[in-house]
Amino acid sequence: MQIRFHDPASDFSDGLAVIRAYHDSLLTQGRRLLELVSEIESHGIDPERANRLAELYAYYQRANVLHHQDEERALFPAVVGRDLLVDGMIERLGLDHEEIEEAWRVLEIDLKTMLAHHTLSPDFREKAARFEKLQREHLTRENEDFLPKVESSLQMSQRRVMGKAMATIRGINHNQ
Ligand SMILES: [Fe+2]
Ligand SMILES: [Fe+2]
Repeated sequence: MQIRFHDPASDFSDGLAVIRAYHDSLLTQGRRLLELVSEIESHGIDPERANRLAELYAYYQRANVLHHQDEERALFPAVVGRDLLVDGMIERLGLDHEEIEEAWRVLEIDLKTMLAHHTLSPDFREKAARFEKLQREHLTRENEDFLPKVESSLQMSQRRVMGKAMATIRGINHNQ
């Protein structure tokens, strides 16, 4: 598979903007995944669907890892240790990440097989639905509960530092 990953974030001058760009992108790709799963179940895998599946595969392989690193290495450390409620949220969100990563590992095996042989794994739909649901519920918790709670406590200078850390995670030389 030679499909290039397009980073949902291009501007790393504000770490919170990077987080939000990923949340929007992950929610959109989750809907695409479910649509494609339904199509494949009804009509099988033709070259066009295989190509879309390969794109989603390449996207999740990179986007999930980067996004969890962005949060665990840049966002969470910037806000931890000031408020017990926020600290509890961070602990829970970190556990969610592990659960999402495990659900992806399970789905990933089926996707690889399907892409290699253009055959359908029997419980592919359940695995994809579980992964998408865990991801969507987690993103919703972050968007609706966590980010509003921490946003006001982050200075613009901290948001810049976070963005710089995220650029470094990607190997980008960021000088803003
Ligand atoms: Fe997260
Ligand atoms: Fe997130």
